[in-house]
Formats: sequence, structure tokens, C-alpha cells
Amino acid sequence: MNHYYFIELDIKDEQLLSAIEAEAFKSFGCEGVQEFTLEEEEVDRILGERSYSGGDLPLEVLEEVEQTLIAEGKVKRTLYFSDPTQAQGFIEFLRGWGLEANAKAQEGEVRDWNENWKKNFKTIEVTSSFSIVPSWEKKEEDGDKIFIYPGMGFGTGNHETTFLCLKLMLEEIEDLNSIKTCLDFGCGSGILGIGASRKSQSLERVDYLDIDQEALNNTEYNIGFNSSAEAKDNKLLLPSDSDKMLSSYDLVFANILKHTLLEQADTILSKTGKYLIVSGLLKGQEQDICVAYKQYGTKLEPVKTLIKNDWSAVLFKRGL
Ligand SMILES: C[S@@+](CC[C@H](N)C(=O)[O-])C[C@H]1O[C@@H](n2cnc3c(N)ncnc32)[C@H](O)[C@@H]1O
Repeated sequence: MNHYYFIELDIKDEQLLSAIEAEAFKSFGCEGVQEFTLEEEEVDRILGERSYSGGDLPLEVLEEVEQTLIAEGKVKRTLYFSDPTQAQGFIEFLRGWGLEANAKAQEGEVRDWNENWKKNFKTIEVTSSFSIVPSWEKKEEDGDKIFIYPGMGFGTGNHETTFLCLKLMLEEIEDLNSIKTCLDFGCGSGILGIGASRKSQSLERVDYLDIDQEALNNTEYNIGFNSSAEAKDNKLLLPSDSDKMLSSYDLVFANILKHTLLEQADTILSKTGKYLIVSGLLKGQEQDICVAYKQYGTKLEPVKTLIKNDWSAVLFKRGL
């Protein structure tokens, strides 16, 4: 008998939902999506006097009903997986994005889900001189590698947004070796700050900020794994620790979804001294962020956008 693990998604942004679904298929072995079904009662409610009795709904009426359900936030899609470790990996991935998800195992056994999904994490080459390597494959420190234990299913570099942030830093910041301070806003596994520590000889302090204490714990663990790469001073911060932050940082990373980039714009922009790398953006959303951030009247200019599959990232630089 096939055991399936169902993950119901309640994400109202259609573009985001389809990008997340694409990720489920691409990286987590998702085997299918159950679309929502139209319940007669709901159809009657929406169509009122125009309700049909029996027979198929004409396409345009079906679309109207669908659009109404979407607008009311009633559309839910359920992804299914036969491999519990992949399903668990996908849940961790969703968690990394702060997205709500419910997981239901058809035959129970949720508790038996193990950590094997982590074994799907293989070395990722960001550039010819920079790779992300699973922590369990570490043999010795290597200036071209960082070692990451993906405790949250996030920040392995496997995801496009993490990869793009690192690529922008490595290929577009010419004076990386003069950067002294870095803020990893929404640090997850700490991969971006650790990557900066590894590649910038001058980095003295990295502040890792996250709303999730587990992310900070995972970051701390990963810093320990890259001991000779770590900046002299690493701080693990929750948003309530804002008084412990510097007034500004030479380099700020923020790989968080568009709505959080907008909500947190004041902090992100005011803390950026020289460079800001933002991601977590679906392709096309980078323009909205550039327009929104320009309205703050900062002297930050978008200087490079990178796109990979459905995702994008932007490097901003402070002008004189
Ligand atoms: C998509 S993950 C990025 C992890 C890692 N920086 C990377 O690039 O792979 C986003 C992280 O931001 C955190 N986060 C979400 N909203 C936040 C907020 N308002 N302030 C700080 N961290 C936040 C989440 O807990 C999560 O760890």
C-alpha cells in the first residue's frame, strides 16, 4: 500500500503559491497537487439566483466562482508526497519562509519522520572559488568552502534566493575585503553571514538576526563549524535586541519575502551603510522593491539584479 503525506497549503498570493509548488516538485519529490473541489453549497452561495441545478458549470461561471473563492481566501491546495523525509524537508522549507502549512500523514507515522532528508543536501558550488558543503562532509577548514548543517531546512544554498545573495556578494562587491560589519537579517542557518565571514578578510563583526530562536541556535552551531572563518565578533539577535545592533553595517543581507522586506524597510534601509542585498523575491517583484525603497529617499541605488528560475535578488549600493 502506498503511504502518502499530505501538506495543505493556505497561501493567498497565487504567484507565491505557484513558486512554492514548483519548489515542492523540483526539490522535495512532490508527486501531485489536489486542487480544491467546488462544493455545491459554496457555488450556490456565490451565484445566488444564478445558481445552476445539475450539469457542468459553463467555463466563465466556473472562473467567476474560482475568483470569488480566491478573493475570499478559500482556495487551498494539498500537495502529496510518498517519501516522508521529503515531505518533512518541504515542511522545514516552508517554515524557513515563515509560511503556514499543515501536514497530515495518511497512515499516521508522522513521529517516525526522520532526518534523512538532510542527506539530500549536496555540495553547492556558488562560484569556482566558493562552495557550500554539508557539515558532515567536513574534513578540514578550507578557504573556498563553508560548512552548513541545515537544521531548519533552509540556508543550504540549494534555494535560489540564498544562492543569488552569495553570488551577488562574491561577484559584484569589488571591495568585499574592506567590509568590516555585516547584518544577516533573517539569518536562518546563518549561511550568508558565515559566507561573508569566509570571503571578506576584513570582517570584524557579524550580527545574525532572526525572529526564530531555533534559527539562531542553528546559526550558532554553524558558526562553530566554520570557526576559522568566523568574524571576530558574532552576535545572535532577536528583534527585541534592537538596542544591541550597530547604527549601521557595511553590508546587510535580507533574504525574506517581499511583504517582510516592505514591513521591515525602515530597519533594513536605515541599517545599511554601504551595500544591501535583498532576495526572497519572486521574479518581477524586484521592481516593486526598488520603487518602494526609492520612496524612502535613501541614497541606495539598485546596481545589479540576478534572476534564477522563479526568483530574483538585488544588490543596492549607497551613493555618495
Ligand atoms: C528565507 S529564510 C532565509 C535564511 C537565510 N538567510 C538564507 O538566505 O538562506 C528567512 C528567515 O527570515 C526569518 N524572518 C522572517 N521574518 C523576519 C523578521 N521580521 N525579522 C527577522 N527575521 C525574520 C525567518 O525566521 C527565516 O529564518
